[in-house]
Amino acid sequence: MREQWGSRIGFILAAVGSAIGLGNIWRFGYMVYNNGGGAFLIPYFVALFCVGITLMILELALGHYTKGSAPLAFKKIYEKCEWVGWLGVLGGFVITTYYIVIIAWCLYYLVEIILFGLPSNPKTFFFNEVLNLSSGVGEIGSFVWGILLSVIVIWAINFLIVGCGVKKGLEKANKIFIPLLFLLIIILVIRGITLPGGLEGITWYLTPNFAVLKDPKIWLDAFSQIFFTLSLGFGIMIAYASYLPKKTDITTSAFTIALLNCGFSFLAGFAVFGTLGYMALKSGVPLNEVVSQGIALAFVTFPKAISLIPVGSVILGIIFFLALVIAGISSSVSLVEAIVSAIMDKFDISRRKALSIVTLLGLLGSSIYVTNAGLYWIDMIDHFASGYLLPIAGILEAIVVVWLFGGDKIIEYVNKLSEIKIGSWWKYLAGVFSPLVLSSLIVLDIYSLMHKPYGGYSWNYLGIAMLVIPLVFVVSFILSKIPWKSEVK
Ligand code: ALA
Repeated sequence: MREQWGSRIGFILAAVGSAIGLGNIWRFGYMVYNNGGGAFLIPYFVALFCVGITLMILELALGHYTKGSAPLAFKKIYEKCEWVGWLGVLGGFVITTYYIVIIAWCLYYLVEIILFGLPSNPKTFFFNEVLNLSSGVGEIGSFVWGILLSVIVIWAINFLIVGCGVKKGLEKANKIFIPLLFLLIIILVIRGITLPGGLEGITWYLTPNFAVLKDPKIWLDAFSQIFFTLSLGFGIMIAYASYLPKKTDITTSAFTIALLNCGFSFLAGFAVFGTLGYMALKSGVPLNEVVSQGIALAFVTFPKAISLIPVGSVILGIIFFLALVIAGISSSVSLVEAIVSAIMDKFDISRRKALSIVTLLGLLGSSIYVTNAGLYWIDMIDHFASGYLLPIAGILEAIVVVWLFGGDKIIEYVNKLSEIKIGSWWKYLAGVFSPLVLSSLIVLDIYSLMHKPYGGYSWNYLGIAMLVIPLVFVVSFILSKIPWKSEVK
């Protein structure tokens, strides 16, 4: 008997927990920042409605219809395409291995603030003390022990939550995580907008600049952000929907999850830009110059900004990093669950066994990022995993479901269950528009790679990082060729 959520609200909270992650606070913040502020919000919301909600409906419908994790779902709708399910799940596994390391950095930072207060120089603290970063990608050095310990703790928390199952683990944890996350972010928002200079920061955040909309990069950033933030292409939403009871409203669920997630990001933006506005005022540097690099926003600039606040800065630091840790864990458990459920379905083994295999392999995978060159490797592998593997999984998923299985069948299935009906426009958005947009993400990146190696890394190392793409393809094919242990109904 397949496990089930205890209630619909429990499922929604778990799915929202998966969606709200590091991406909403950290990645969203620097995407808005790098794209000149308010201008980014227009393509962001266009991407949400055109691709985000469309593919969310597709993944929820697929999981609900087949009652299976991604590989089982694809096997059931189009036998030859089981590998497409594995591709998403394995791409997700690669991402999990470093996603957990980034949560571990946040945990380390959090413990440090609790014990010793905010660092006086966040830049030196983060790069030299937390990461103990070497001078180049080839200088792997040795393990950074503090981070290794923190990574083990985060994997252990994932093990405990996923090990307790769908209802007693994932659902229960998210019932605590999500209200807490909203509470933490609201405190940060109130503090951010009431600081001197806060309103200037918010104005910068909300003022659209229509001129930059001509630049295709802002559109691509928006589509890739929506795809990542809604946890699409990892097989997560397929697995989560497979635990739903027969009678579930698919479209309302998709809208609720997507809007709560993007609403959270939008809210987090007020906290980030209010606080950056204060920093700009205090330091006399214009807001568009206060952050030097994307990664620095959460780990250097934000801690620096709050350290300038005369009262309560340590508490704010604790709240900020606690929010990052909780948002991260509520997403990482869903990444782990997508893989565990796939292994349980395929090999007909217990949750404990599947989870132990995933945790051991995951720890092994995370270890490369826990060295002195860890940050560089995360940067490179992330480029190929979330920039290529995820969109490829999304494109193939949409094509198989809409064109090989039948978009009309999905529309009929969804409409029978849901209050908000979808028409044949959905089929074209999912089966034509989304694959086209996701393909352009990839084509444009290949074009820019041909002109300039990503991040200025040498091709020797980028070549190694790139191997993750063929590797995931090969393992997906091999897994799909292994016979199923139990009869697939
Ligand atoms: N959706 C998750 C995030 O945004 C993966 O971090």
